[in-house]
Amino acid sequence: MTVPTDSIVYLNGEMLPIADARIPVLDRGFIFGDGVYEVIPVYGGKPFRAQEHLARLARSLDAIGIPNPHDEAGWRALIADLMRANPMPDQMVYIQVTRGVARRMHAFPKDATPTVFLMASPMALPPAAAVERGVACVTMEDRRWLHCQIKSTSLLGNVLAAQTAASHGVTEAIQFRDGLLTEASASNVWVVRNGAVAAPTKDNRILEGIRYGLIEELCEGFGIPLVARDIPRDEVFAADEVLLSSASKEILPVVTIDGRTIGSGKPGPVFRQLYSAYQHAKRG
Ligand SMILES: Cc1ncc(COP(=O)(O)O)c(C=O)c1O
Repeated sequence: MTVPTDSIVYLNGEMLPIADARIPVLDRGFIFGDGVYEVIPVYGGKPFRAQEHLARLARSLDAIGIPNPHDEAGWRALIADLMRANPMPDQMVYIQVTRGVARRMHAFPKDATPTVFLMASPMALPPAAAVERGVACVTMEDRRWLHCQIKSTSLLGNVLAAQTAASHGVTEAIQFRDGLLTEASASNVWVVRNGAVAAPTKDNRILEGIRYGLIEELCEGFGIPLVARDIPRDEVFAADEVLLSSASKEILPVVTIDGRTIGSGKPGPVFRQLYSAYQHAKRG
């Protein structure tokens, strides 16, 4: 996401140019990564699946004991203000809430006020070639903590995984924990075999993507069988299709992993069906 230098951001009650937005160095987001975030895609001026994103934000805040600064209507109003200040029909709205500013000590401070930050970025979807021809990935051991269901700003594990992918010149690093598929550095992973879709179980080992729920709905609508279960490494390599999903990647077909061809080496029929349904859904 490139952020234009003239973009207007929201910080603690104020709309201001991003270059003028400042947080104190003792903000616990800066010191400890003590915060959570959301990334909401906006298509045609409408936040897509905002209710689900805001519900996940509420769950993340609740999981780490930060009082939610706004109810759903309050968040929606802030997002609308931000979009008015950054008029782009398609964009990504980033929301971050930290525990706030306090003397540095690990345990929660008693009286900190959460820091609330929102920014708007131009939508940067994957290039058409990635959608048409598919993308390459590498695998790695998942060495992150075991609260991956929280969309935490403590993202060092994901940063290192993304860098592993970048250093191999591929799109994503697909991670395994104890030989079982978890997720990629910033996306959920789907495995298709004989027309049926499998995904890792929604538990503390993965972030439940908002597209996870959407893909469940789309599969149900198409009558495509979908199960959430443990997926051993061999099954990923033996799949007919492997897919990635995230707000910024939407749905992407994976055609090689660790240099090995997946399925036919081309985006498959389940990808095509889900991708076109996603394009339809996002335009409302
Ligand atoms: C670790 C991780 N898993 C999964 C996802 C997919 O979530 P969503 O579909 O809500 O973008 C993301 C999104 O950034 C992510 O960072």
